[in-house]
Amino acid sequence: MKRITIETSSPYEALIGENLLDKAGKYMREAGIKAKKAFIVSDDTVLALYGRRVKDALSAAGYAPFTLAFEHGEKHKTLATVEKILSTLCAAEITRSDVLVALGGGVAGDVCGFAAAIYLRGVKFVQIPTTLLAAVDSSVGGKTGVDLPAGKNLAGAFHQPSLVLCDTSVISSLPENLYSEGMAEVVKYGMIKNAAFFEKLEAGNADTENIVETSVRTKAEIVKNDEFDRGERMLLNFGHTFGHAAEKLSGFGMSHGEGVALGMVFACRYAEETGFLREEGLRGRLESALARYRLPALCPFTGKELFKAMTNDKKRFGDTINLVLPRRAGLAEICPTPVETCGEVMEKL
Ligand code: GLY
Repeated sequence: MKRITIETSSPYEALIGENLLDKAGKYMREAGIKAKKAFIVSDDTVLALYGRRVKDALSAAGYAPFTLAFEHGEKHKTLATVEKILSTLCAAEITRSDVLVALGGGVAGDVCGFAAAIYLRGVKFVQIPTTLLAAVDSSVGGKTGVDLPAGKNLAGAFHQPSLVLCDTSVISSLPENLYSEGMAEVVKYGMIKNAAFFEKLEAGNADTENIVETSVRTKAEIVKNDEFDRGERMLLNFGHTFGHAAEKLSGFGMSHGEGVALGMVFACRYAEETGFLREEGLRGRLESALARYRLPALCPFTGKELFKAMTNDKKRFGDTINLVLPRRAGLAEICPTPVETCGEVMEKL
């Protein structure tokens, strides 16, 4: 098992290894979580698959487990779901010394984390991600929240978990398409900060434990330097600004992973066009790496179409867009770009 300390304002560990689900309570006790009640928040699909094992593991460690399942899917990442969680927490008389457990993918982590951030002005929570995407991205770093009718992730809070348990047996058993989705974020870590990891991914030489460990370490390093997303953490948006726009234009028929994948390739094209990219052939290498993990490289929309969709994105700051562009493999930079200039470049792509 691998242990990584996430050094935020309230430090915590991410544990990565096989069959951690069955010892969730033990690891929570070891992390100093003294609660009596442990309230599991999950979606209906994940709860049916793993709820029993986690409940048993919590009971074995002396916690009284409770469960709440919301309907699965991004469309339930809403204030209504959070309200339902809050009401159920009240009904179960959960106190500030109890703990919430987010069991599932990114939606479970985000809504449970947000409920934990605001219930009684903040209670502890644990992240047990069951998808690769959640393990390598949303479960670490304390971003919680919901979508609003006006857009994704528009309401939320920073609230760090007390522990993250990444069970690689669960993650390895994902259907191929869900695994691929997570791999887009994994390739992103190689591209922005770790050339050796990128090479390993290109060669297909990393197993699930290695993939999760290196991704979480890379994210931990970035979050340590910029917990509240005012600088370096924006690097994690590599591929996302263009990718979100493509997702939006597809009517969200495109998955987040697919959007990030082709968004990263588009960022390479943008950086080629402006001369920012200094490594010849990097785009081809990225495209091959993505193909290895069954991810698309070709954006079905023009630069002009993407730009239009993008300028409504919440990551737009006044007249400047913080584009994240690749310099070479393992190095991306945040490039504040006037909106007008960005539009002119994208017209050509
Ligand atoms: N998912 C991007 C971040 O945590 O900042």
